[in-house]
Amino acid sequence: MGRVRGAFDAQRVCVTGGAGFIGGHLVDALLALGASVRVIDDLSNSTLEHLSELIELEPKRLRFVHGSILEDRALREAIDGCDVVFHLGALGSVPRSIEEPERTWDVNATGTLRVLEAARSLGARRVVYSASSSAYGDTSKLPKGETDAPQPASPYAAAKLAGEGLCRSWSESYGLQTMSLRYFNIFGPRQPADSAYAAVVAAFIRRLSVGQTPVIYGDGEQSRDFTYVSNAVAANLLAGASPREPRGEVVNVGAGDRVTINELLTRIADCLGVSGVSPEHKGARAGDVRHSQADLTRARELLGYRPIASLAQGVEETVAWFAAAGKHSSEHGA
Ligand SMILES: NC(=O)c1ccc[n+]([C@@H]2O[C@H](COP(=O)([O-])OP(=O)(O)OC[C@H]3O[C@@H](n4cnc5c(N)ncnc54)[C@H](O)[C@@H]3O)[C@@H](O)[C@H]2O)c1
Repeated sequence: MGRVRGAFDAQRVCVTGGAGFIGGHLVDALLALGASVRVIDDLSNSTLEHLSELIELEPKRLRFVHGSILEDRALREAIDGCDVVFHLGALGSVPRSIEEPERTWDVNATGTLRVLEAARSLGARRVVYSASSSAYGDTSKLPKGETDAPQPASPYAAAKLAGEGLCRSWSESYGLQTMSLRYFNIFGPRQPADSAYAAVVAAFIRRLSVGQTPVIYGDGEQSRDFTYVSNAVAANLLAGASPREPRGEVVNVGAGDRVTINELLTRIADCLGVSGVSPEHKGARAGDVRHSQADLTRARELLGYRPIASLAQGVEETVAWFAAAGKHSSEHGA
């Protein structure tokens, strides 16, 4: 990560969706690297809890714009004067996209177009877009490489994939520097654990810690490339700082490995010291893919990206965070 040191010092950057899970970690890192950060978020899937703490610490270097990326004025306010835009704002759930396909398209595809247009018209140099490995769909080839034909299987995947095309075309048509980072199942501290759409790592930790039965959709033999959030942050920083001008390239960001959901549950249970776990199995979810694992060759070649934290480390840190957060909220009567 030596190559990003100094790259953001005194730089002004924007993080869309910066109140969210990955966005919050990215804002932490950018502030630590000396950047001035503007965040735009409509708080539709997040709260101001983490950002408020940061604003208290860094009132001059962190500004929050409460608004949607679909609102022109709010977006301009957030992006004006920024050199790099990290675009994370999105509706991030496959099941919700199946219930609300049009809203998903509006925010994830049209929203990306609006961010690119605002960045271009306001003179930003680069947009780093949070894309999704769901673009690959349920193909049997492993690991998934960026030259594989995309086969989106949900409205979420289709809209995120459209965002990649928009990024590339804004590079080709207008010379805006863009890069699309296709994340593979990111997890870590502060990921919501109690929503109906919760990511599986947070959901398992939460249920096991309070003695509830964890739920697995399908037989649990489906596998994923679970990636600790610090890896996604590192990839964003590398993409934002890269001296080589990106022109819409799509780049996988994962751990480069995979485990089944059943195995993940065992690892989390071990880490929590819970034995004899027997999950409840529910029907497989529509739009879910069977296996997923990232080929990281391009990420290494273009960005010098290598996972900086393993699954074991990530699970340990996430379990520790949830334990501390649970203790804090019970001490405060929440
Ligand atoms: N978490 C993962 O495993 C994963 C995997 C692939 C891609 N991604 C992508 O990474 C990005 C961040 O995901 P996350 O897991 O942190 O999710 P998140 O929901 O925690 O973060 C997204 C943020 O965007 C905000 N947002 C939603 N609609 C908005 C709008 N119209 N205007 C402004 N802000 C809006 C939400 O309030 C939230 O704070 C998303 O683009 C998501 O599609 C995440």
